[in-house]
Amino acid sequence: MKFTALCLASMVAASSALLRVPMKKRSDEEFLANRREVVAARANQLTDTGDVVINNYENAQYYGEISLGSPAQNFEVIFDTGSANLWVAGKDCSSTNCKGHPTYDSSASSDYVVNGTTFDIEYGSGACTGFLSQDTLNVGGLTLPEQIFAEITDASGMGVGYKVGKFDGILGLAFDELAVCGDPNDGGYIPGCVPTPFGRLASTGLIDEAVFSFYLGGLTPDFPANMTGFPGELTLGGIDEDHYTGDLAYVPVSKAGYWQITVDSVGIDGTDFSTADTREAIVDSGTSMLVGPPDAMDQLADKLGAKKMSSTGEYVVGCHKDLPDIEVTIAGVDYSISSDDYMLKDGPICILLMLGMDLGPEGLGWILGDVFMRKYYTVFDMDQERVGFALAKASE
Ligand SMILES: *[C@@H]1O[C@H](CO)[C@@H](O)[C@H](O)[C@H]1NC(C)=O
Ligand SMILES: *[C@@H]1O[C@H](CO)[C@@H](O)[C@H](O)[C@H]1NC(C)=O
Repeated sequence: MKFTALCLASMVAASSALLRVPMKKRSDEEFLANRREVVAARANQLTDTGDVVINNYENAQYYGEISLGSPAQNFEVIFDTGSANLWVAGKDCSSTNCKGHPTYDSSASSDYVVNGTTFDIEYGSGACTGFLSQDTLNVGGLTLPEQIFAEITDASGMGVGYKVGKFDGILGLAFDELAVCGDPNDGGYIPGCVPTPFGRLASTGLIDEAVFSFYLGGLTPDFPANMTGFPGELTLGGIDEDHYTGDLAYVPVSKAGYWQITVDSVGIDGTDFSTADTREAIVDSGTSMLVGPPDAMDQLADKLGAKKMSSTGEYVVGCHKDLPDIEVTIAGVDYSISSDDYMLKDGPICILLMLGMDLGPEGLGWILGDVFMRKYYTVFDMDQERVGFALAKASE
C-alpha cells in the first residue's frame, strides 16, 4: 500500500510540486456589517443570557473555491483547520438561511454515489443536520474521486452567520480523528468515520507531502482605501517560501484531532494570562479571533484598558490608545501581536479581535485564530505531526 502511494507521489511530483488555492478575504467593512447583523439577530433570539457566544463561523473571513460532482458544481468554502468534515448545503436544504447559497444537486452529477448516513454537527446555537453523500471533489486543481461529504438539509444551527456569510460550506483540515458522522441522539457520533479530503490527498499520493500551509494575505499600500488587501493562499502539499521571512519554528502537535499545541504563555509586559490548566491551544483558520479562557480574557482586556460589552461579550476600547503587544510564547519562541493586528476600527471605537470562551475540559484554553495566522505564516505538517510558524510577508 505504502509503496503504491510512493510511486504515485513521485509520478505526480514531476508535474506539480505545490498546489495553490487562492483565498479571498471579506473586507473589514463587510466583516463589521456582518457582525452588527449577527449581534442584532442574537439580541432578538434571547437564547443565551449575558454573553452572546459568537460562533466560530459567524465571523469567518477566509474562503476559497472547490467543486463537487461531474460536471462541476462550485462552492465557496472555509478552509477550516478547526474541524475535519466537508459539508455544503444540499438541494433540499429547508432552513431559510440556506437561501442565497448554491446548493449541491446530486441528481445533476454522474459521479454521485448514495451513502445516506446521518450527519449532525452541534454548534452553540443548535444543530446542523444532513446526510453523507459521495462524489468527485476538486480542490486546488486536484481531482479526488469518491470523496464522502455531508449534504446539509437543515442549517438553522448556523443561524444568521450562515445566512449572511460568504461561504457555502466548510472543508475541514483537522486530523481524521475529528471527522464525525452519526447522530448524537441515536447511537452517538462515530469519530473518524469519514476519511478527510486532505488525508486522502496525501494517502493517494496526489500531493507530495502531507503538509499544507496558510498565508492569509496582507494589506496593500493603498490601505485603508483597500481594506481587503492581498489575497491569501492555501498551499497544498508543501510550503511556499515566498510568503514568509526568517525561519520556520516548529512545535509538536500535543494531541492529534485539532491542530493542538502547547503554549508556554500568553502575556502582556511579562504578565502571563495562561495557567497550568489552560496551556493547550488550537491553531484554527476558521476562527477569526484570539479566543481564551473567559477569566484570562477579562484580565487581558482589563490590562489593555478595554471595556466588556455585556450584550455581546466583546471588548471595546478607544482607538487612540497606544496599546501594548500581546506576546504568545510557543516552544520558547515569542510571537507578538500588535494592536494593529488585534484591533478593528468600527467608527469611533475599536473592537478587540478577542473573545473569552470556555472551550471545555482537557486543558484546552486558547484558539490562535486568524488574528494570529495573519501575522504568522502557518505550516500544518500531518506527517510529522507538527505546526510551524514564521513571520508572514506583509505583501508580496
Ligand atoms: C458511508 O460512508 C461512511 C464513511 O466512509 C462509511 O463508513 C459507510 O459504510 C458508508 N455507508 C454506505 C451505506 O455506503
Ligand atoms: C485590493 O488589492 C488587491 C491586491 O492588489 C486587489 O486584488 C483587489 O482587487 C483590491 N481591492 C480593491 C477594492 O481595490
